[in-house]
Amino acid sequence: MVPVRLWRSAGPGRGRALLLAGLLLLLLRQAAKQEVGRTSPPEPLRGEGESSGRPPPNVVFVKTHKTGSSTLQNLLFRLGERHNLTVAFPRYTYQFAYPQRFAAAFVEPLPPGAARYNLLLSHLRLAAGELGRVMPPDSLYLTILREPVRTFQSVFAYYRSTVPAFRALAGHPRTLAAFLQAPARYYDPADAGNGLARNPMAFDLGLEAGGEEGGSRWDRELERLNRTFQLVLIAEHFDESLLLARELLGLRLEELVYVRLNVRQGGGDEALAPGLVRRIRAWNWLDVRLYRYFQAVLWRRVERYGYTRMKGELEALRSLLQETRETCLAGDAVGPEETADELRPWQPDTAAILGYNLRPGLPPAQHASCHRLVLPELQYHARLYHRQYGRELRAQPGD
Ligand SMILES: *[C@@H]1O[C@H](CO)[C@@H](O)[C@H](O)[C@H]1NC(C)=O
Ligand SMILES: *[C@@H]1O[C@H](CO)[C@@H](O)[C@H](O)[C@H]1NC(C)=O
Repeated sequence: MVPVRLWRSAGPGRGRALLLAGLLLLLLRQAAKQEVGRTSPPEPLRGEGESSGRPPPNVVFVKTHKTGSSTLQNLLFRLGERHNLTVAFPRYTYQFAYPQRFAAAFVEPLPPGAARYNLLLSHLRLAAGELGRVMPPDSLYLTILREPVRTFQSVFAYYRSTVPAFRALAGHPRTLAAFLQAPARYYDPADAGNGLARNPMAFDLGLEAGGEEGGSRWDRELERLNRTFQLVLIAEHFDESLLLARELLGLRLEELVYVRLNVRQGGGDEALAPGLVRRIRAWNWLDVRLYRYFQAVLWRRVERYGYTRMKGELEALRSLLQETRETCLAGDAVGPEETADELRPWQPDTAAILGYNLRPGLPPAQHASCHRLVLPELQYHARLYHRQYGRELRAQPGD
């Protein structure tokens, strides 16, 4: 069992990496145990498991950091599990050698008997050509963006002790303000570990912001991204985005159910001084541009979809979400102390990440569905990896 305090006692550097490796192994054993106990496919929430007959299209989801991407990844993991799809997993851990640019060599080879990968959903830094070497040419490319000030705040809180530019401020009382006062003092653009320290979403999408602000070069880069992605979801319009994804992927409304995952405790009610907001936007100028561009793209698509149709479907989706929460959850999201071990999301040492407990006494079929709905990223990843390869996920070469 996971020692109760382990998740708060992470140290910096290597100790932290080892801790993560150890935690992964624990998760893997738990995932493997659950696998052994299962004899027939788990039964669904209302309508969730009814197969629509044809399998969903192949999907690449570029999982950006701190944008609500875990919530969509969970939805796609569930879709993959339901249709027994083959997932392109990283060879080691749960991300593709991030922050290196994605390379085909980072992907675990196909399992015996599988002809192609269907889904690729783990953190990576975009390199579209390399993804094209791994995923079928008909794959749909999706990603998600979030309002850049919120994203940066969240990245800063989550990675304060791991990203070198932020780590330099450890112990400073008002760290975010201090960083933004003189970011160049802490930020070395040549250090790849600093990818998330400036324009984190643009970094994940493979852009090389450097010092070059403005200019038409970025218009071309954004247009290129708009051609790469069939859909860029916007976290602030998550349900609208999901409905667009639904049309693209041919899903039923019931297949869109989700609960928000990997949410930071207190993250919603941090007010920022206007000066600080301005500084965050200036520092993350390319993320601001990226977000503005794809927000406009999304709204044009909603317009094409039809406002009336969208409104009606939003109502239906939201009542379904409400029903699902009432069925599955013991209550609202709770802090790590209150989350059951196997449902506790991974905890960075600078923020508390909320999780969910299931309503006690759920009938087995519903319990299985609800369990998948709230299963944090690492646990779900480990479980599907084990299911696909019949062995445990490796944390590093030689494992
Ligand atoms: C799932 O796919 C694997 C190959 O990837 C295959 O061995 C297995 O029989 C499939 N199971 C079901 C229930 O379709
Ligand atoms: C982005 O691509 C879509 C097609 O997916 C197109 O309709 C739209 O005009 C493009 N947007 C811009 C701003 O180029």
